[in-house]
Amino acid sequence: MQTRSIGTSDLEVAPLVFGGNVFGWTADERTSFSILDAFVDHGLNFIDTADVYSAWVEGHQGGESETIIGKWFKESGKRHKVVLATKVGMLGTRAGLSAANIAAAVDDSLRRLKTDYIDVYFSHLDDDKTPLDETLGAYQKLIQAGKVRVIGASNYTGARLEEALKVAKESSLPAYQILQPEYNLYDREGYETELEPVAEAHKVAVATYFSLASGFLSGKYRSKEDMQGKARGSRVEKYLNERGLKILDALDEAAKRHDTTPATIALAWIIARPSVTAPIASATSVQQLESLAAATRLELDPEEVAELDEASAWQK
Ligand SMILES: NC(=O)c1ccc[n+]([C@@H]2O[C@H](COP(=O)([O-])OP(=O)(O)OC[C@H]3O[C@@H](n4cnc5c(N)ncnc54)[C@H](OP(=O)(O)O)[C@@H]3O)[C@@H](O)[C@H]2O)c1
Repeated sequence: MQTRSIGTSDLEVAPLVFGGNVFGWTADERTSFSILDAFVDHGLNFIDTADVYSAWVEGHQGGESETIIGKWFKESGKRHKVVLATKVGMLGTRAGLSAANIAAAVDDSLRRLKTDYIDVYFSHLDDDKTPLDETLGAYQKLIQAGKVRVIGASNYTGARLEEALKVAKESSLPAYQILQPEYNLYDREGYETELEPVAEAHKVAVATYFSLASGFLSGKYRSKEDMQGKARGSRVEKYLNERGLKILDALDEAAKRHDTTPATIALAWIIARPSVTAPIASATSVQQLESLAAATRLELDPEEVAELDEASAWQK
């Protein structure tokens, strides 16, 4: 499998990231361990989590996902097989990107993850109340201490990403090497118009989130009844319209041609986009993981990409 590098760093990753928000939420510990084992057995290596996962679940405080990953590292001995990303800034008790908060949050994450380094540390959300040089200065200290290897930005606007890159250059501070935006066949416009040009101009790597539109692009939600009682039902409702169904039709057709699943095609379409390093997607079973991993072995030809582009066109 051809690996891709994270920006100008020496970190090499396979073109599919596992999204760890399911660990301790829709995947219990045993299932999470099986998924993680199967993921590395496929030769995949990049895993994404955040300190805040899964604080949105009743009774959770955040840190549940990192805790499960840490336990798996310890029990499996597979830390060295993983390029690990986690994030700071969105946990209620560790909110924002001030230097003091970053210094405290990283130690919390390292403790839960049972490791002494994070490969990719993401700013989870922009913080316009903290000067960019304060945030980047805090990351510089973590890099010098060996706690973090590379930094990334999630949920930044194109303008703020550009500004952060400029501050890094002018003040000789570490620069964001990877961006984590929302992007999938349905949600294209924000990334394609605003962020992609900045990422390409500055050679910033891109790992897309909600790459399966919260499961909608698997094709399993085609009516309101399909969403009832499902953990992600309320998230996918917005996709159930003429354009969403047109995208599913195009995915069905391509999946039939390749004898695979719509989820695999949806991820292969993202992998084929030159500006994207790897899509992030999650799975709640080893069987679902198979359809994610299959995307790294499927190359869509340019006509097929064009067909999917056309079915999902967002331009008025
Ligand atoms: N930076 C950010 O602000 C941010 C925000 C959101 C997410 N993320 C990252 O992106 C990752 C992915 O996001 P996500 O998990 O919410 O959305 P997603 O990857 O778009 O959707 C994944 C979900 O779809 C379902 N699914 C996957 N494969 C399937 C298959 N073959 N057949 C049927 N259903 C399938 C599973 O849910 P069910 O089995 O429950 O249906 C799975 O958990 C997260 O884990 C996180 O790492 C980052």
